[in-house]
Amino acid sequence: MIRCDIPKAIPIKKIMQENPYVKTFVFEHTLNSQPGQFVNLWIPRIDEKPMSIAYDGGKEFWVSMFAVGPFSKAMHSLKVGDMVGVRGPYGKPFEFKKGQRLVMMAGGYGAAPLYNLTVRAIKQGCTVDFVVGARSKEHLLYVNRIKKLGASVKLHVATDDGSVGKKGYNTLILEELIANKKGKKIGCVYACGPEPMMKKVSDICFASKVNAQISVERYMKCGFGVCGQCSVDPKGFRTCVEGPCVSNEVARSVVEFGKYHRDKTGKMHKF
Ligand SMILES: Cc1cc2nc3c(=O)[nH]c(=O)nc-3n(C[C@H](O)[C@H](O)[C@H](O)COP(=O)(O)OP(=O)(O)OC[C@H]3O[C@@H](n4cnc5c(N)ncnc54)[C@H](O)[C@@H]3O)c2cc1C
Ligand code: FES
Repeated sequence: MIRCDIPKAIPIKKIMQENPYVKTFVFEHTLNSQPGQFVNLWIPRIDEKPMSIAYDGGKEFWVSMFAVGPFSKAMHSLKVGDMVGVRGPYGKPFEFKKGQRLVMMAGGYGAAPLYNLTVRAIKQGCTVDFVVGARSKEHLLYVNRIKKLGASVKLHVATDDGSVGKKGYNTLILEELIANKKGKKIGCVYACGPEPMMKKVSDICFASKVNAQISVERYMKCGFGVCGQCSVDPKGFRTCVEGPCVSNEVARSVVEFGKYHRDKTGKMHKF
């Protein structure tokens, strides 16, 4: 895999408004990435931040971004043709086996990298239950794209306020899928989204003895293992190199998983 550790200036080819809060940025560039990996995007004099790869078609790749703070709001103000520094791809990707039944558990921007995984997995004969959760209808991400993936993908939606789909957390749907023994056995559950949601997925899969992989994300700086910023307790493994995508067993060995994370100064914050 070719990796670039010096930011390469790439113009934005296209911008797609996904919902009132999220834009997808398309870059014409060959990344050779795997689903679950990320790139570092840089806007000079603003900041540099890791972003999950939402799609990699070989000649172009996408990232989908919430506008929440200085960097992401600056990205949202950019126009087609503006240049962004790109480094990567970085991180340990998700793994899957051909022909398995997979379950995607997506919250927030997690629907984007799990879409990327689904696109690859169905080409390898997998079937997918794609479970998207959001606060309300207007926060849902990627549902129309997921619907267009064809018969091997079944979409399930849950919203906290019940404005669309099942009312409540998307983990209610996971419990139903695991309890229903009629379909093909679930090969693996993948979780990407807010950490309390992923902890619940981890607990459900652990209790039901179902394989799972989790994207454990921490504040990142270098993105390739040299600064130590993204290390997690107690073993100090670097989520940018040994993660972000790890088995449920590894996620559960991280004592801070679902409990706390550290900001760029090292200060601890509870979830
Ligand atoms: C491996 C990895 C992959 C990531 N992939 C994506 C991605 O695909 N899309 C994406 O939008 N972000 C992604 N992020 C988060 C991203 O790197 C930034 O943290 C985020 O864009 C906020 O940066 P900022 O400078 O704009 O705001 P900051 O000042 O860093 O954050 C502002 C506030 O928003 C909170 N916040 C951060 N991210 C979110 C969010 N997504 N939703 C709600 N609140 C948030 C922060 O905790 C903080 O309180 C990823 C992070 C990691 C570690
Ligand atoms: S971000 Fe520097 S080691 Fe992970």
